[in-house]
Formats: sequence, structure tokens, C-alpha cells
Amino acid sequence: MEHLKKKVRIVPMTHEHLDEVAALERICFSDPWSRNMLAEELDNAVSAYLVALDTEDGSVVGYAGLMVIVDEGYITNVAVRPESRRAGVAGALLDVFVDFAKGNSLAFLTLEVRASNYGAIALYGSRGFRGVGRRENYYEHPKEDAIIMTREFGDEDAGDEASNGGATEKSL
Ligand SMILES: CC(C)(COP(=O)(O)OP(=O)(O)OC[C@H]1O[C@@H](n2cnc3c(N)ncnc32)[C@H](O)[C@@H]1OP(=O)(O)O)[C@@H](O)C(=O)NCCC(=O)NCCS
Repeated sequence: MEHLKKKVRIVPMTHEHLDEVAALERICFSDPWSRNMLAEELDNAVSAYLVALDTEDGSVVGYAGLMVIVDEGYITNVAVRPESRRAGVAGALLDVFVDFAKGNSLAFLTLEVRASNYGAIALYGSRGFRGVGRRENYYEHPKEDAIIMTREFGDEDAGDEASNGGATEKSL
């Protein structure tokens, strides 16, 4: 995490973070997840949500969510506060999920991203995700295609970093 230019502490999301994460959703997305939707994810046994906390004031700078179905990982959300972007926060959150995927022998991590969201596409590309398909008119407000991006983990990746990155503090 040497490249991290913003000092954050990455920890599992809990109920105490819900208000701030819901506010972050409203800032970042035209179809934000509500506080209730986020709360349900905390009770979902196959979901793991992380928050990046400002080390100085403890506020939520960013967050990310992962859902694991058998050996498949689906990244559901990644968002960082506008004033804290390009400081390595989303990359650090994704690195935890990549380490988790390697440490737990997941076959792949996958996600959808708006076709026009070049920043996010660049972010995922920087973490080894590649475009593998497109879902037409997947998004609303505005209607737009989704690009499906996936990073596969072959045998060469399995167990080379036995880290669970803290994500297993939430049982999967
Ligand atoms: C996309 C988003 C999560 C990136 O968060 P971030 O903390 O700024 O990302 P990072 O600083 O970790 O970026 C890591 C790398 O990703 C790429 N990247 C990230 N944002 C980028 C941008 N806007 N333009 C180009 N490349 C970008 C760069 O390669 C960057 O490395 P660099 O800064 O050393 O060049 C953030 O812009 C955001 O919250 N956007 C709104 C919500 C959203 O679109 N989420 C994704 C939904 S699929």
C-alpha cells in the first residue's frame, strides 16, 4: 500500500458507518443504494463490505462491497469521496478484495461499470480486470450499457498471498 497518498484505515463496514456510506452513495450515484439496502448487506452472510476511514478524524472516505457465491466474487460497489479521489483509496480497497480472492481460491472477481465511466474502467484495469462483455441498457438515469470487467485467478495465483485482508472478519 506504499502508493496510498491518502492515509486511511480499511476496516469491515458496520452499522455505525451506514449514515456516512448512504451519504456517499447519494453523492456518487444517480441511483444510490439506500441506508436500508446497505444495512441488509451487513446481514447478508455472503457479502463483505469495507470502509476506508480517514486516519485523522475517522470519517468514511470510501467504501467497497463484495459478494461471494461459491468461488465467484462479485464486486457490487466502489465509491470514494470526491475530495479524496486519485489518492489510491479505491485501489487500496480493491487490493483487499484481490488478496481475499487469491487467499480463498476464488475463480474470478467480476463487476459491471457504466460504459462512460472511464475513471472507474481505468481503476479496474489498473488492478488486472479486463472487459469481457457488455449488458445493453443495464443502467437507468441515464440509460446506459454496462461493461462487464473480470479478473480471473488461475492456479498460479492460488495461495501466493495467503492474506485474507481483513475481509473475512465478515463471515463469508
Ligand atoms: C472510480 C473511483 C471509485 C476511483 O476512486 P479513487 O480513490 O479516486 O481511485 P484511485 O486513486 O485508487 O485510483 C487508482 C488508479 O485508477 C485509475 N483511475 C482512478 N480514477 C481515475 C480517473 N478519474 N481517470 C483516470 N484514471 C483513473 C488510475 O490508474 C489510478 O492510479 P493513479 O492515480 O496513480 O493514476 C472514484 O472516482 C469514484 O468514487 N467515482 C464515483 C463512483 C464510481 O463511479 N464508482 C465505480 C462504480 S463501478
